[in-house]
Amino acid sequence: MLLPLPLLALTFGLFDGAAAQGSVTDYAPTTNVKCPAAPLVRVFTPQNQSLHPQEQAYISTRESTILPDAWKEWIGDGSGIGYNASVVQAMQGNWSRIGIAISGGGFRAAQYGAGVLSGLDARNESAKAAGTGGLLQVASYLSGLSGGSWITGSLYMNNWLTIKDMVFGNGGNLSGWLLDLNLAAPAGIDLFNQDNQYFFGSLVWSTTRSNFFTNDSAHGAGQLWSQIPETPAFQQYIPPFPIVMSDSRPVGSNLTTALTPEPVVYEMTPLEFGSWDPNLSAMVNMSFAGTHFVNGTPPNDTACVTGFDQAGFIMGSSASLFNQILDFGTNTLTGFSSQDASGLLYVLSRQLQEVRTRANDVANWPNPFQGLKSQTFEDSSSDWLELIDGSSNAENVPLGQLFVRARGLDVIVAVDSSADQSTTLWPNGSSIVASSNRMSTILLASHQKFPPIPQTPADFISTGVNRRPTFFGCNPTQNPPEYPMVIYFPNSPPLNGENPVTNTGTFQIAYTPIHTRIFIDQVHNNTIGGFLPNTTSPDPNFGKCLQCAAVDRARYKLSPMPPRSDVCSQCFAQYCFDPWNPPSQNELPGRQFAFVDPDPQGVSGALSFFAKNKAALIGGFVGLFVAIALLVTFLIWWKKRKHREAEYSVVKDLHDDDDAALLASVGLDKYELKPRRRGFFKGGDRSAFSFGF
Ligand SMILES: *[C@@H]1O[C@H](CO)[C@@H](O)[C@H](O)[C@H]1NC(C)=O
Ligand SMILES: *[C@@H]1O[C@H](CO)[C@@H](O)[C@H](O)[C@H]1NC(C)=O
Ligand SMILES: *[C@@H]1O[C@H](CO)[C@@H](O)[C@H](O)[C@H]1NC(C)=O
Ligand SMILES: *[C@@H]1O[C@H](CO)[C@@H](O)[C@H](O)[C@H]1NC(C)=O
Ligand SMILES: *[C@@H]1O[C@H](CO)[C@@H](O)[C@H](O)[C@H]1NC(C)=O
Ligand SMILES: *[C@@H]1O[C@H](CO)[C@@H](O)[C@H](O)[C@H]1NC(C)=O
Ligand SMILES: *[C@@H]1O[C@H](CO)[C@@H](O)[C@H](O)[C@H]1NC(C)=O
Ligand SMILES: *[C@@H]1O[C@H](CO)[C@@H](O)[C@H](O)[C@H]1NC(C)=O
Ligand SMILES: *[C@@H]1O[C@H](CO)[C@@H](O)[C@H](O)[C@H]1NC(C)=O
Ligand SMILES: *[C@@H]1O[C@H](CO)[C@@H](O)[C@H](O)[C@H]1NC(C)=O
Ligand SMILES: *[C@@H]1O[C@H](CO)[C@@H](O)[C@H](O)[C@H]1NC(C)=O
Ligand SMILES: *[C@@H]1O[C@H](CO)[C@@H](O)[C@H](O)[C@H]1NC(C)=O
Repeated sequence: MLLPLPLLALTFGLFDGAAAQGSVTDYAPTTNVKCPAAPLVRVFTPQNQSLHPQEQAYISTRESTILPDAWKEWIGDGSGIGYNASVVQAMQGNWSRIGIAISGGGFRAAQYGAGVLSGLDARNESAKAAGTGGLLQVASYLSGLSGGSWITGSLYMNNWLTIKDMVFGNGGNLSGWLLDLNLAAPAGIDLFNQDNQYFFGSLVWSTTRSNFFTNDSAHGAGQLWSQIPETPAFQQYIPPFPIVMSDSRPVGSNLTTALTPEPVVYEMTPLEFGSWDPNLSAMVNMSFAGTHFVNGTPPNDTACVTGFDQAGFIMGSSASLFNQILDFGTNTLTGFSSQDASGLLYVLSRQLQEVRTRANDVANWPNPFQGLKSQTFEDSSSDWLELIDGSSNAENVPLGQLFVRARGLDVIVAVDSSADQSTTLWPNGSSIVASSNRMSTILLASHQKFPPIPQTPADFISTGVNRRPTFFGCNPTQNPPEYPMVIYFPNSPPLNGENPVTNTGTFQIAYTPIHTRIFIDQVHNNTIGGFLPNTTSPDPNFGKCLQCAAVDRARYKLSPMPPRSDVCSQCFAQYCFDPWNPPSQNELPGRQFAFVDPDPQGVSGALSFFAKNKAALIGGFVGLFVAIALLVTFLIWWKKRKHREAEYSVVKDLHDDDDAALLASVGLDKYELKPRRRGFFKGGDRSAFSFGF
């Protein structure tokens, strides 16, 4: 949703821990740092790929110290799902390795992800009672993309707090996501009222309702992705290992459309930045991302850069649909309401004065892999990488990171809130199809295979698997299995036939508290409820069925392999997708598909507010001062100036006197987007700003 980075940091990245609460200037990376003697870039091939030793250690330490109790807590002695206690005993020490992937889709995706995690979290009483709560505790990985990266960042930068505290606050020092405060113009439509100005002027690092509009703190500056391992929860091996990801736009392509599957997909863990794609297969130490390496080495001993990996910047790099939604011609943002677009573009335009820019609509990363894999890596000769929204290649669920062979996952939970269907905004599986295709072509050498799924979005719909939890890949034909199991949780209408509130637009950037609460509850209820064929009732056995799915791959690691229990076989008959005997959407009667606003009072209030304040919105463009210290990437405010004049007659007055200076200061020639080459990396020089979805 194209949120300025600091806004992201503000809403999702408040670190409740001991990490540096720096000043605003801490957004700037530190340059000319002495480079350590140890190599910072590692290069491998699909055949000899390996995990970073610290990732390996985190996973295996957690598997030996934390997970045995977590599994026991979740499935007990296994008798509930029909397994002999001795079988479960034998599984100890060799459980299925599980990952959870949370899709993009703006605030919808963040809330949907929150609702699903809540339904899988043993810390939630109703999830625990249903038997689904516990999967989160036994998961080894959590990956997020775009809107899903916000929830990932939010959880880890806040020491793995509960979903409830994260979204709604804890009544104390955490106020939650505050989704009712519109992020483009939180204090209402008048961008120039004092509160909005304060808000734009500074973005708080630990935000509460009372300090939301003040500017006296540093808004998450100084919170680094590479500091996640210093948080207490991580130190105790409590959370899964986090990963967010980004797509890349081939440098020089200037693409403003969706990508084909070929361009390199990158990931950011707290340890590393890089790609497992066969054509790159290289990683750089996250603490030194931002350094310009050539052939894996810095130009000299003191050419290293640290502090590039601001948590907000990482999330912003994953959530940057900017290149696809900014219409250069009309200076509008596709998908946004016009008032939200005005607020965002306004903030961006002011910030341009503070920054320098390269490609203006992407997150620019110094290329740490320059010179590497010149035969296959398409940006091998480029100084910079251009990272864009993780969903740009049509994969909206970050599954690729979890299929990496070296990670050895057995079960992957796909949390999909894509808005595929044109009017109702439900997912239709197209993201899963895209992932399956990329995995089985481009990533064949480096990643696990994808299990059988419906071939097309139309098949996802006709089989109904986009409307209820489904397990894919239940019956591998070999041992070890040729693919992991995929558990699919699509955003879908309430199973009890109520009106849905969860199929909202990607660009909706304000939700009333009532809406958010019902949103999370509906998703939570669907997540713990499964489905009972031909009814609108929850399945009292779904918790058991989910446990069956989670333990099934552990059977394959035992010799002799114990048979699947009867309880689990029954579950699988209901929840597994069998391509030879596909289910039907007719088993899911009584669902309502059309969004119904749960809080029309709130919305009509906002609308009438807008109607009343329209004059203020336009008039307010005069005389405004915004000093967000960070930022960056963009500006084409000038292009097609005539259109802009028609649309923003007053802004023009504001800009007329400073356009030339502004343009010169950022290296743009008037009316054109033409980044001018400058010296390499002056202090603070980077696209520290990105936009999100
Ligand atoms: C926030 O409050 C909780 C208790 O409500 C406390 O444990 C925690 O240390 C506080 N965090 C900060 C940063 O003050
Ligand atoms: C992987 O193999 C390539 C080529 O065979 C080799 O250059 C590289 O050093 C190896 N990397 C590791 C980590 O073993
Ligand atoms: C459970 O395991 C024990 C010990 O291996 C065995 O004696 C018993 O027959 C098993 N029970 C079932 C129902 O398989
Ligand atoms: C914060 O807001 C106050 C009040 O408008 C202003 O005087 C001050 O300069 C602002 N500080 C920053 C860092 O923007
Ligand atoms: C992309 O933009 C750059 C800078 O404007 C230009 O030099 C280049 O030719 C463009 N590339 C393509 C493929 O249009
Ligand atoms: C990054 O490099 C520093 C300095 O060599 C080292 O201490 C740190 O462990 C490295 N981190 C990772 C994740 O490799
Ligand atoms: C090392 O490289 C950096 C970045 O290119 C440059 O700013 C610095 O002057 C170089 N230092 C020396 C001693 O050459
Ligand atoms: C990988 O590199 C090869 C050799 O340049 C190229 O033919 C292929 O298209 C590249 N694959 C992708 C996915 O970009
Ligand atoms: C558990 O989830 C339900 C449904 O969203 C919610 O109402 C409840 O407050 C949650 N409880 C806790 C302890 O998080
Ligand atoms: C969720 O389920 C609970 C328990 O069945 C029910 O009380 C509540 O109304 C449901 N919430 C929604 C939003 O459907
Ligand atoms: C659901 O109903 C259809 C016919 O309406 C029937 O063919 C099907 O067997 C039923 N499914 C179950 C699981 O009862
Ligand atoms: C775990 O399973 C693997 C095979 O999948 C086996 O090689 C290994 O010995 C098992 N480890 C334990 C502790 O049982």
